[in-house]
Amino acid sequence: MSGPHFPPAPGIPANGTDWAALRERMLSMRVDDADWRGGRTPLHVYFAGDDVLKVAREAYTMFMSENALAPAAFPSLRRMEDEVLAMVLHLLGGGPRAAGNFTSGGTESIILAVRAATKWFEAAGRRTPRSHLLLPESAHPAYDKAAELIGLAVRRYPIDASYRASADVLACYIDVDTMMTVASFPSLPFGTVDPVGAIADVARQHDIWLHVDACIGGLLAPFAKMLGHELPAFDLSVSGVRSLSADLHKYGYAAKGASTILYADAQDRDRHHFEFDAWPKGRYRTETLAGTRSGGAVAAAWAVMHFLGQEGYMELSRRVLATREALHRGIKSIDGLHLLGHQPLGLLSYTSEGADIFAIGDQMEEKGWYISRVAEPCALQMTITPAHEPIVEHYLEDLRASVAFVLESGTAARERKVVTY
Ligand SMILES: Cc1ncc(COP(=O)(O)O)c(C=O)c1O
Repeated sequence: MSGPHFPPAPGIPANGTDWAALRERMLSMRVDDADWRGGRTPLHVYFAGDDVLKVAREAYTMFMSENALAPAAFPSLRRMEDEVLAMVLHLLGGGPRAAGNFTSGGTESIILAVRAATKWFEAAGRRTPRSHLLLPESAHPAYDKAAELIGLAVRRYPIDASYRASADVLACYIDVDTMMTVASFPSLPFGTVDPVGAIADVARQHDIWLHVDACIGGLLAPFAKMLGHELPAFDLSVSGVRSLSADLHKYGYAAKGASTILYADAQDRDRHHFEFDAWPKGRYRTETLAGTRSGGAVAAAWAVMHFLGQEGYMELSRRVLATREALHRGIKSIDGLHLLGHQPLGLLSYTSEGADIFAIGDQMEEKGWYISRVAEPCALQMTITPAHEPIVEHYLEDLRASVAFVLESGTAARERKVVTY
């Protein structure tokens, strides 16, 4: 959040307040929050219905005090983590040597993958002060964050006219200091999927680490394939893919604080672990970035995955893909709007030729939609969830009216700067 929004607290209250009164106050604080239940948000919340939410909530609270840092004390959590990982590895092409860890989110999964890749590069005697990540322009900033933390450089190469990374362009940019590259499945700005197979071939030829960012698509693409949707191979079964991130708190519909980082080879997974013993308390070991971790997120993910099962995920995926298709059709039917590339999963991204797309976004905001923007090229973007199923017609009606208004009035956008989360 930019700038203070609330008066600074005067300090902890001298006396306690009963829960009922606090609950009321907290509910009233929510009044300006985006309406995710009503499908008004294009990002941030993946709502699969009250039944799924109830399972996540109850499972979370059952285990929220248990600490996943200490599997010896809480074997229940170790077991749930192992079972979640086994399910995700099975879905995402993990062979007998594959392994992973449960993390707090896509960003943590990505930081761990960059750490593992760095250790691998170092072990091979290849790390230099010029070692860098070579990313398509559309890759998530979590890689830049990881690079900053670890002390690596980042270079970005241009994506092609179809808003995807190109293996040929990647090959032109690789040099001896290139350590790692990334393919998104899909990318957040455009919803397009990078050609993982071709990128993996280039990564193998140059002996660089390929990470597949399936933070968004990891728990949607496998079910889309089961439903008969055509998607290229993208997972750990593709030779040359060394690591893959898949978020459970996105299309896994788990409580927030749940992602997985997976490796084709367990040896690579072990590279991101941390161990230290030069202090009085003996050997300290963590498998992820965090120390103390609530068992809540683990338990909620385990419970939601068992509650839904393959059948539940297929049905939710069917609804997401049908809703995206209906929105795609509607957007294409509005004169002047067009989609940015082929968007085969749960994301859509569109722009306008004749009218200022950000001014259209402003109009949509005035109609109560929380709008997500893309800066280059200027576009509006949306991640589709089951919560959007009932709002398709309403959204398209408001969009049609917004486009017509901007075209007629020539209204310009209130602001051109895009702040994204
Ligand atoms: C493609 C992609 N990668 C990584 C992330 C980071 O995930 P998180 O916000 O869970 O840390 C996101 C978040 O939207 C994403 O879209």
